[in-house]
Amino acid sequence: MEPTLEANPLLEPTRTERIPDPCVMVIFGASGDLTKRKLIPAIFDLARQGLLPSGFTIVGAGRTRMDDDSFRSYMHDAMREFGRLTGQESELWQNFARNLHYITVDSSNPQEFELLRNELHAIDERRSTGGSFLFYLATPPDLYSPIVRHIGMAGLNRPRTPHGWVRIIIEKPFGTDLDSARKLNAEVLSVFTEDQVYRIDHYLGKETVQNLLVFRFANVIFEPIWNRNYVDHIQITAAETVGVENRGGYYERAGVLRDMIQNHMLQLLSLTAMEPPVLFDAQQVRDEKHKVFQAIRSIKPEEAHRFTVRGQYKAGTVGGKSVVGYRNEKGVSPTSETETYVAVKFIIDNWRWADVPFYVRSGKRLPKRVTEIAIQFKKTPHHLFTSLPDMLEHNNIVIRIQPDEGISLKFSSKVPGSSMRMRPVTMDFRYGTSFGVHLADAYTRLILDCMLGDATLYARGDSVDVAWSLITPILEGWKSNRESRVYDYPSGTWGPKESDAMLQGDGRRWRLP
Ligand code: BG6
Repeated sequence: MEPTLEANPLLEPTRTERIPDPCVMVIFGASGDLTKRKLIPAIFDLARQGLLPSGFTIVGAGRTRMDDDSFRSYMHDAMREFGRLTGQESELWQNFARNLHYITVDSSNPQEFELLRNELHAIDERRSTGGSFLFYLATPPDLYSPIVRHIGMAGLNRPRTPHGWVRIIIEKPFGTDLDSARKLNAEVLSVFTEDQVYRIDHYLGKETVQNLLVFRFANVIFEPIWNRNYVDHIQITAAETVGVENRGGYYERAGVLRDMIQNHMLQLLSLTAMEPPVLFDAQQVRDEKHKVFQAIRSIKPEEAHRFTVRGQYKAGTVGGKSVVGYRNEKGVSPTSETETYVAVKFIIDNWRWADVPFYVRSGKRLPKRVTEIAIQFKKTPHHLFTSLPDMLEHNNIVIRIQPDEGISLKFSSKVPGSSMRMRPVTMDFRYGTSFGVHLADAYTRLILDCMLGDATLYARGDSVDVAWSLITPILEGWKSNRESRVYDYPSGTWGPKESDAMLQGDGRRWRLP
């Protein structure tokens, strides 16, 4: 009989969540896109789950002139527009919105931070938030340095009371290359201590990404085969159907290598490749991930064209709709050489992964939205069924990060009947079926963790540094090496054919997700 959701023991109430200490959260860039699309919906979700502390207050800060009421109604409209508020939640929203405030601040003006400080101290008194402040930098990245500096000058980098705390969440991109990331890190660490700094990578907040640790380290059956003895290679894919949308200006300077690989994809790679930590805490988990970053072989500028393939989408059809090419997008130069697709072959020089390539690819305007990690196992050492040479496929484990979140294991099975025929079949775990719950947005988990002082799912400064030191020589190679070029691919296809050729050269091919 099919198991029913009602009979599912995993649906038993499991409320073990901690509620954070009261604090005031200050969002810089409050009138921007991220605040309305991600941050306020995520914090409202915490309110919905009863996880916000009493007195919790949000102060939106930005250059745009607004008062509290217009900020509240701007956020309300956005919540409705993005379907994050149901008709039955108007009372909950009203209560939540009462704790939303807005202060106009020009980030380049230190005096305005003194006014901000006085205002925040007054709110702290009024709301009994214990002198604790959480700053969130959701502004364009060129404002990170002045904001951090002015927070320091106004003395807002230290708690007001002995039991209070001050933390700062910094959005990506954290720098644009190794030098700029180091400079920003030094500036941030001249005002805050490392344990106050939370560099956010929203991929780490995804349930399916966190589950990688549970899958690998809370089960005994996978770890023994998670190494070069059994694994042939690993493919990590983040494919998007969207183009650059209205972010052409930003994307022109970023490209997919900076936008997706330096952060999200390398984070997925490190979680897949890391050794078991001794404890599940911020230091141990991040130490193990850091060792992976350090073991990734650096791709020298002169070999960038052998280890990477970049592409740019041309006009085509995605999901039955005609779309324009990248060079015709708003804010994009008609002669742009920015890559919207990249495939990279990473080698990890350590005992566990020697000779096991990690092929990582990400692109926009691909045929399907899918993010997954595929562990491709080796062939059986001895082929018993010699009369069926082509039917034996490699085993694989595919961790589906999104959508259709789950994990599947592919193995060969005999096709029922009197002859010996076989076919690959899969065992499949789906979050929807097993847990019957809607997976929370990554930001919800990450903001809660920061309020609780848990940095396990945030990127540490030294790892961000190593990640840039891996990416920067590739960028240099692309610029200086004439053999390296940007290949075209029609929108709605799986990237340039040169990307397939890179794997074919190794006797492998990309999975069709
Ligand atoms: C962001 C990138 O960090 O991640 C975007 O800047 C990308 O370009 C997005 O679209 C993808 O995130 P997700 O959660 O939709 O996979």
